[in-house]
Amino acid sequence: MIIAIDGPAGSGKSTVAQLIASRLNFKYIETGSMYRAVAWKAQQAGIDPGDTERVAEVARTISIEFQPGAERQKVMVDGEDLTPVLKTETIGRLAAIVAANKAVREIMVAQQQNMGQNGNAVMDGRDIGTVVFPDAEKKFFLVADQKERAQRRHEEIKAKHPEVTFERIYEQLQQRDYEDENREVSPLVPAKDSIRLDTTQMNIDDVVAQMIEMIGPVHSQ
Ligand code: C5P
Repeated sequence: MIIAIDGPAGSGKSTVAQLIASRLNFKYIETGSMYRAVAWKAQQAGIDPGDTERVAEVARTISIEFQPGAERQKVMVDGEDLTPVLKTETIGRLAAIVAANKAVREIMVAQQQNMGQNGNAVMDGRDIGTVVFPDAEKKFFLVADQKERAQRRHEEIKAKHPEVTFERIYEQLQQRDYEDENREVSPLVPAKDSIRLDTTQMNIDDVVAQMIEMIGPVHSQ
């Protein structure tokens, strides 16, 4: 069984996806961190994120793995734990630029399909229900008010990055939403057969409880 969870930045996807995966004893594949890893590596190499050829080369050679962590799952990039550095909104913005690169998407989508091929996986992103696993058994599309999403992101990172203001995050998020919704390749759109959940007024536990109920009984393979 594949559970696809798509939606814009800060809609709660990664938190609920991780909780659902651990409740069901499924693998959790956070596809956003894969685009973030490519963006981070390109940045480290001094490559312009808009340089399609060179960024595609980064995507072709990068190794991305998910490993269990104490609290959250770890993202290992070329053997290095990059979990904390990938989460910044600056890397998020760069990720949105490299994610518009067709060659990068092809490479990442193939890797994601490979990671999920044995089933029993929760995968979150922007195009899981539409492109990566269009036949996923359950598809969710999480949304939330833009201010609320920026607020959540701010809460998440303010301890580590006190210099980043709410206004700055709000602005970056607006821009990222615009880019994700308007790019030519795999723009952010809900799959026709997805269940839409507005999480603006909901807490995480309620969202998870509702989704688990909608998923229903799970038969392991
Ligand atoms: O989900 P997250 O905010 O970590 O994703 C970072 C960026 O990666 C998104 O803004 C989007 O541009 C891109 N992305 C994507 N397709 C996915 C997951 C993420 O294009 N499946």
